[in-house]
Amino acid sequence: MRAPTPKRDSPNPTRRDALRAAGGVLAAGLMPGAAGAQRAPIPFGSAAQIEPFRSEPQYREALKRHCDVIVPMNDLKWEALRHDRANFDFSGADELVAFAEGNSQAVRGHTLLWGEALPAWAKAMTSRAEAERELVRHIEMVVDRYRGRIATWDVVNEVIRFDPRGEPMRDTLWQRLLGAEHVEIAFRTAARVDPKARLVLNDFAFEEKSPLIAARRRSALDLIRRLQERNVPIHGLGMQAHLYGENPIDIDGLQAFMAELTRLGIEIEVTELDVIDWKLPADAATRDRTAAKLVSTYLDAIAAVRRPRAVVTWGLSDRHSWIHQTFPRKDGAQARPLPLDADYRPKPMMDVLDRYRRNTS
Ligand code: G3I
Repeated sequence: MRAPTPKRDSPNPTRRDALRAAGGVLAAGLMPGAAGAQRAPIPFGSAAQIEPFRSEPQYREALKRHCDVIVPMNDLKWEALRHDRANFDFSGADELVAFAEGNSQAVRGHTLLWGEALPAWAKAMTSRAEAERELVRHIEMVVDRYRGRIATWDVVNEVIRFDPRGEPMRDTLWQRLLGAEHVEIAFRTAARVDPKARLVLNDFAFEEKSPLIAARRRSALDLIRRLQERNVPIHGLGMQAHLYGENPIDIDGLQAFMAELTRLGIEIEVTELDVIDWKLPADAATRDRTAAKLVSTYLDAIAAVRRPRAVVTWGLSDRHSWIHQTFPRKDGAQARPLPLDADYRPKPMMDVLDRYRRNTS
């Protein structure tokens, strides 16, 4: 049964007010459409970058107003936490986690292991024994600190080789020193320290129609099956969903992927959603409409098979996005990848995300 449309009694209801009013009991993971199955609203959230978080009240207000979930964009990465081998600098992460808790928002941890964003001392590691010792110690310290406060962890990020046809695992420091076992070590350590945490494999490029992307989906499934065969605790796949505005969604391919993940008992969450619009026309309204339609098509495709546990965008406002530097437009126009414009005004994409938050068609 669909949750009733929330009654708006406060002058500026937040998105969470709507969810509370709807009494949204999140039965995430239910197969929608199954007889009697309740289609639960899907929590929405965003990554939070510490610099604008500290300098822009509007940035904090937008996070508070629009989000059920907060992800520290960079402050739980090795580069931010581990300036040297001996010490941990939790200042940024603590600030963002405290903000989220103060607003009754859930927190996703990103990320316990990645081949990038490593401090120099870690990049200089040379032996298997040292890599394993430091990886285990890192996860023990970080997961223990936030046990019961960070409910979901991107345990590993981007461990699949971009083109996995041939060698499936990405060539990272961890892969070189520990082999594919680095993934198992990370998951087992996180599960040992916080047995209640949801443990997620996070990666990108699963959405388009091409032999390479189909191979990436197969590699993700193969890796998950291998972990399951070894009784490694893994609960979810995080799909980053950095969507290219000019590329259609492979609906059939994506839905077959969702069905197999469901069969394996793996939940999914959209973890870094944004739209790379560098190949779209310059006109802002056209780009915004195209981006919203692409996000809608993408979310409709996956939710028709498996409702995501959450949909998280990689930032809220066009004012702050990695896409400006990484995918600059030839015409010099500012990218428009996110749900709010550079002045924190909602765009059509936010309406799409809102519909999922309120579970309205
Ligand atoms: O905090 C330092 C600051 O002290 C220093 O003055 C400044 C200039 O050197 O750098 C700051 O750190 C930067 C950090 O962002 C915070 O702004 C790093 O150099 C920079 O590399 C880092 O970029 C982040 C990138 O991941 C690498 O960690 C991006 O903001 C972030 O959006 C991006 O996010 C990744 C996800 O984690 C994984 N999926 C892909 C996604 C996009 O690349």
